[in-house]
Amino acid sequence: MTLQLPADSRILDTDFVFGVATSSFQIEGGQDSRLPCIWDTFCATPGAIRDASHGAVACDHIRLWPQDVQLIKSLGVDAYRLSIAWPRVMQQNGELNPVGVAFYRDLLCALKAEGIRTFVTLYHWDLPQYLEDQGGWRNRDTAYAFADYADKISAALADLVDAWATLNEPFCSSYLGYEIGVHAPGLKNKGWGRQSAHHLLLAHGLAMPKLRNNAPKAQHGIVLNFTPCYAETDAPADVAAADLADQYFNQWYIKPLFDKAYPECINTLAPDEQPQILPGDFDIIAAPLDYLGINFYTRHVYRADETAGFVVVDQAGAPKTDIGWEIYPQAFTDLLLDLHRRYPLPPLYIMENGAAGADELVDGVVQDDMRLGYYQQHLLALDSAIRQGVDVRGYFAWSLMDNFEWAEGYLKRFGIVYVDYSTQQRVIKQSGLAFRDLSLSRKG
Ligand code: FCB
Repeated sequence: MTLQLPADSRILDTDFVFGVATSSFQIEGGQDSRLPCIWDTFCATPGAIRDASHGAVACDHIRLWPQDVQLIKSLGVDAYRLSIAWPRVMQQNGELNPVGVAFYRDLLCALKAEGIRTFVTLYHWDLPQYLEDQGGWRNRDTAYAFADYADKISAALADLVDAWATLNEPFCSSYLGYEIGVHAPGLKNKGWGRQSAHHLLLAHGLAMPKLRNNAPKAQHGIVLNFTPCYAETDAPADVAAADLADQYFNQWYIKPLFDKAYPECINTLAPDEQPQILPGDFDIIAAPLDYLGINFYTRHVYRADETAGFVVVDQAGAPKTDIGWEIYPQAFTDLLLDLHRRYPLPPLYIMENGAAGADELVDGVVQDDMRLGYYQQHLLALDSAIRQGVDVRGYFAWSLMDNFEWAEGYLKRFGIVYVDYSTQQRVIKQSGLAFRDLSLSRKG
């Protein structure tokens, strides 16, 4: 099976960026060569991770990176999106850790030597534990600590990075981490969730001028995730419920970047749930972006609920991936068109899209038809949005390889490359081969 696009698709242009993505905690391992982070602590909490696993070894990328660079090369892609582990490159005294910096320099140099463009995210959730001990993202000081880290590491790696992203999915860091506690640091308080979101966005805004200053030739932006919200019926109450959910889960993280305000749902929060916002914060947060990164996986359907305002309605019988997320590619097109209509967007990059599958390695082959179908449908959905005027410049598959899937541990496989965790062997899945063929066909 192959991936097919209409011959006139913009996605087939040679300047459209094809890439694969990972993040530090999910693949690196090498826990003993960095400071502890909130995910180390969370993994050590009984019941937090479904298979009671941790990131101490993960894909052992800290040792196997030279072969992983060759793997990326063999996939025929233009770019690799990785993240930097803050606790690997910064010491508690605020100075860079030369050992950690050397690791990323070597990795980025090897990628450059292979002609692979580098998209680097500064924060993909691995907050140093010593900062969490001082309140983590609930504490405004963490935003300033992030800006300092961003300043120092971008100065050290400036010549090796094509595009910097401040944060990956502040929704997950704040809502999942501080509001409902299913991600590190595992706290459950609505006000803390909203305050953390504000401090994350502030951190982003404080870091942007530092990045621009240190790397004037690189592109600078942020990566947000969206789960579009649909109403179960046309009834006004359901439509209003879906809109409220959309404000709360999606618009909360993007509106401040362009409109210097939170969505109206902020007015429905009790006084002690409202984030503290200081004068001038929105001007910092709305720093100009060179690009916006978008992560898309699925949608949610909502119905009105008297107590909660809205509840998710399970789409029983709908196609779903192995993690239970509905496969609904139309939402990808709808999302891009909706954002395009609402905001004065810079060029977009799809920084993550992909599917979890119950993959099995049989006689050296991983026949991941569901994932292949997912990619096929979502590339077409993206093509449709581009044809309708959305400026999208690149697409990254999540993920290069199977890895530590947060609260799901190693139970959910998102890679286009299979990882045998007992041997650390990597095997390109059928979807990976198709992705390679599509990527290479553009150069033909
Ligand atoms: C996203 C995360 C990424 C990965 C995928 C499946 O929310 O950014 O690290 O876990 O989901």
